[in-house]
Amino acid sequence: MSEQDKPNDPIIADKIKTLQRKNAEALLGGGEKRIEAQHKKGKLTARERVELLMDEGTFQEIDKFVMHRAKDFGLDKEHYLGDGVVTGYGEVNGRLVYVFSQDFTVFGGSLSETHAEKICKIMDMAMKNGAPVVGLNDSGGARIQEGVNSLGGYADIFYRNTLASGVVPQISAIMGPCAGGAVYSPAITDFILMVENTSYMFVTGPNVVKTVTQENVTAEELGGASAHSTKSGVTHFACANELECIQHIKKILGYMPQNCEEIAPVYPYELLEDESRKELDSLIPENPNQPYDIRDVVKGIVDEDSFLEVHEDFADNIVVGFARIAGRSIGVVGNQPQSMAGVLDNDASVKAARFVRTCDSFNVPILVLVDVPGFLPGTDQEWNGIIVNGAKVLYAFSEATVPRITVITRKAYGGAYDVMNSKHIGADLNFAWPTAEIAVMGAKGASEIIFKKEIAEAEDPEAKLQEKVDEYTAKFANPYRAAHRGFIDEVIMPSETRLKLIKAFKMLENKVDKIPRKKHGNIPL
Ligand code: HXC
Repeated sequence: MSEQDKPNDPIIADKIKTLQRKNAEALLGGGEKRIEAQHKKGKLTARERVELLMDEGTFQEIDKFVMHRAKDFGLDKEHYLGDGVVTGYGEVNGRLVYVFSQDFTVFGGSLSETHAEKICKIMDMAMKNGAPVVGLNDSGGARIQEGVNSLGGYADIFYRNTLASGVVPQISAIMGPCAGGAVYSPAITDFILMVENTSYMFVTGPNVVKTVTQENVTAEELGGASAHSTKSGVTHFACANELECIQHIKKILGYMPQNCEEIAPVYPYELLEDESRKELDSLIPENPNQPYDIRDVVKGIVDEDSFLEVHEDFADNIVVGFARIAGRSIGVVGNQPQSMAGVLDNDASVKAARFVRTCDSFNVPILVLVDVPGFLPGTDQEWNGIIVNGAKVLYAFSEATVPRITVITRKAYGGAYDVMNSKHIGADLNFAWPTAEIAVMGAKGASEIIFKKEIAEAEDPEAKLQEKVDEYTAKFANPYRAAHRGFIDEVIMPSETRLKLIKAFKMLENKVDKIPRKKHGNIPL
């Protein structure tokens, strides 16, 4: 405030000073020393994170002066304005977003009854006003001194996370500890991001693990970003640092609508004179057993540099992510021949099903690229539920009402043909490249079964098998049988795929599809 703006009335001046003092106090959270300790750990403060997330000058904080009401264990003498969480709203790339950011400098960011009330308040606002909620988590869990009041606060948040699911996008960044039941709020949200080396998530920490299972494991090994991005798949993104984490949040939001009634922002795009991508014509190797990177197909189809891969380090036999095609947001699901020949296993199935449902919840059209030899055999797969997990993919595609387009680049074998967004389960347009092979199984396996006797009785079984393989290949290892039946709408040149898809997605932009009225479906979990 400049000298000339200062009020003359000393009473008013005093009131204003009180407000300024309180504001300054709130900004300090748990105090300079704890802020320093936070920085020493390589972590930003709750407010610094919010500033990075929101467009400059747009953040509006609410409940800055809220304090806890607890009295036990000395808490009646220890109060901090804001009670360990910064909440409010602002803009990310010009669009409204609600945020809560836990302040580790105040009681370790632990969740008290009032801390929970603040989070619930902005979640309720986000639901009423139809905008995303971003949670920046950095907390020692339930405020121990508050007992069940804190547990109740958590449950109030979980309940809202569930009600908001599929209504507004919810994104959770883990930027410090997130342990015990606290993990269940992020787990219900649409996306989890973790920061390498400074964040961890687990239901029970290393000490409990040691007592119960005698395993020696560090917090990082048990629940760090690396563990959850590669082994459990709990986190969708492992970020090198907090800055990268926040940039990723902004990118994700850019592909999503504000709520389930809207569509994602469409960027202006003028069709080029030549949208063909010649390099795709020579991408599929001559030998059908030779791998290639499905990401090269994605890159050859979508707008330049628009692909944001999700779950990159988990179940890499399937690739999922957001992209844009002629400025429109789409979700891409593609089998990855480069990893385990692109076979569908338990992890890949869960990964794909979850992403398909995320896209469908938020009106993001889906592109499916198919090169799949089938489901992975084995006791490990069967005993871990490949029946139910594979069914998740089938279910997720079948119930999705967004525009859905499939391109079969090479193999589409067995049940996996049906599952990977086939025409039969409601896909809108199904294309195949000339290299597509659509059959119950690969030629060798098929020949060994159906010509078993003939091969065994042949003078030269090897030569007989090859003859039958060639016969089967000629009959089935192509897209034309399926195209004759209309199961494939068009066999297209790889180089013209982008243009076909631009036109197809545009044609489908006003698609209206309804599933039968029901309370909710019962996806096999
Ligand atoms: C109250 C807490 C707290 C908590 C930390 N603090 N966790 N206060 N309740 N849960 C306080 C500390 O007393 C300390 O206060 C400050 O936060 C920083 O903590 P430090 O231990 O000094 O920090 P650090 O060494 O970085 O260790 C962080 C930590 C550790 C690993 C999170 O604090 C910790 O283990 N806390 C307890 C975690 C826990 O058991 N929580 C309950 C989980 S069960 P001062 O004044 O010194 O700054 C749970 C159930 C939820 O959450 C159920 C939901 C359904």
